[in-house]
Amino acid sequence: MHVLVIGSGAREHALLLALRRDPEVDGLSVAPGNAGTSAVADQYDVDVTSSGAVVALARRVGADLVVIGPEVPLVLGVADAVRAAGIACFGPSKDAARIEGSKAFAKDVMDAAGVRTAASEIVDNPARLDAALDRFGPAAGQRAWVVKDDGLAAGKGVVVSDDRDVARAHAASLLDSGHPVLLESFLDGPEVSLFCVVDGETVVPLLPAQDFKRVGDHDTGPNTGGMGAYAPLSWLPESAVRSIVTDVVEPVAAELVRRGSSFSGLLYAGLAITSDGPAVVEFNCRFGDPETQAVLALLDTPLGGLLRAAATGELAAQPPLHWRDGAAVTVVVAAENYPGRPRVGDVIVGAELEGVLHAGTSRRDDGSVVSAGGRVLSVVGTGADLTAARAAAYAVLDSIRLPGSHFRTDIGLAAAEGEISI
Ligand code: GLY
Repeated sequence: MHVLVIGSGAREHALLLALRRDPEVDGLSVAPGNAGTSAVADQYDVDVTSSGAVVALARRVGADLVVIGPEVPLVLGVADAVRAAGIACFGPSKDAARIEGSKAFAKDVMDAAGVRTAASEIVDNPARLDAALDRFGPAAGQRAWVVKDDGLAAGKGVVVSDDRDVARAHAASLLDSGHPVLLESFLDGPEVSLFCVVDGETVVPLLPAQDFKRVGDHDTGPNTGGMGAYAPLSWLPESAVRSIVTDVVEPVAAELVRRGSSFSGLLYAGLAITSDGPAVVEFNCRFGDPETQAVLALLDTPLGGLLRAAATGELAAQPPLHWRDGAAVTVVVAAENYPGRPRVGDVIVGAELEGVLHAGTSRRDDGSVVSAGGRVLSVVGTGADLTAARAAAYAVLDSIRLPGSHFRTDIGLAAAEGEISI
């Protein structure tokens, strides 16, 4: 099977490495990729938001399966075009991808499916902003205001703050640039990312993971696309995972089928485990980054067969998934100033080390690997338990040099020390 992976992050690097372990996969291509993925797959610099370009590339490389990593091509309908060309595609249709592309659509689906989520209100008129802010956050007895861009914002459209001026300024700047704002009630409790391979009403959960969205240790500083993750979650009982599947993901998948927007691909449920049980923070229509880097490090089941089964309507016939024992941790190395405008173009030392996945990297003509984006590398460590996995990841980080870069030192630490409870 020849697989074409679309995307350029560490998530796609992890997907490629897991696909390479599948004995049925005998060819790998990637577009546009990065300096690390070029060592794993044939790399093509095409515009992955163009359906025509992706279909042409899939035909050119003889792809049997196209796996679309990022949300933007999915929301634009690239998966529909690949399927229309008669090529199997892992990734939802444009219609189904609205579960991530429009938070208002996601809320409507969750309401209809009876799924618990934060109370919310869309504000599209600046004149209504102050009154709406009064109905949320500390003004309404909650810990903080949660202000989101209604559309796609690469994780950076969310501000969670107990400072009304900060919340208001973010909302006002979104409205100024013509983006409707979603105000949400604050959900208290540890967060869980549960990735489910979904094909219509068939739902196969992967290991639960937790990601770290704030830039600084102890959840300080602004939100990012994700600074690290670990899996599995020793503090989350298996019964809780089962109830997330049966009470949250299956009803949402069934509601999408009922609406004629059947989901095929990876449905990512982001939840808070509140004192009243799980409540949805967000749905995404693709593998999460950086959780994928940790989750796939533990997957024993061949990934190509699993994704092809979902893409071809055979997921229900798949045997149960197999996982390696132990834990995995991924730590993101970010460029100076990220999540602001990142410093780029610096030579990276250690980019070729075992366990290092590439994201914002490119190769110079002289062969050296340089930084080319905000999140530059994902360093993955595995071990018999979370403490060992953390030690493995941070040992590799000791050997990486990138001027001005930064990473969090506390990925998975609270869980390793038994400090998370529900
Ligand atoms: N880990 C957050 C995301 O993938 O959106």
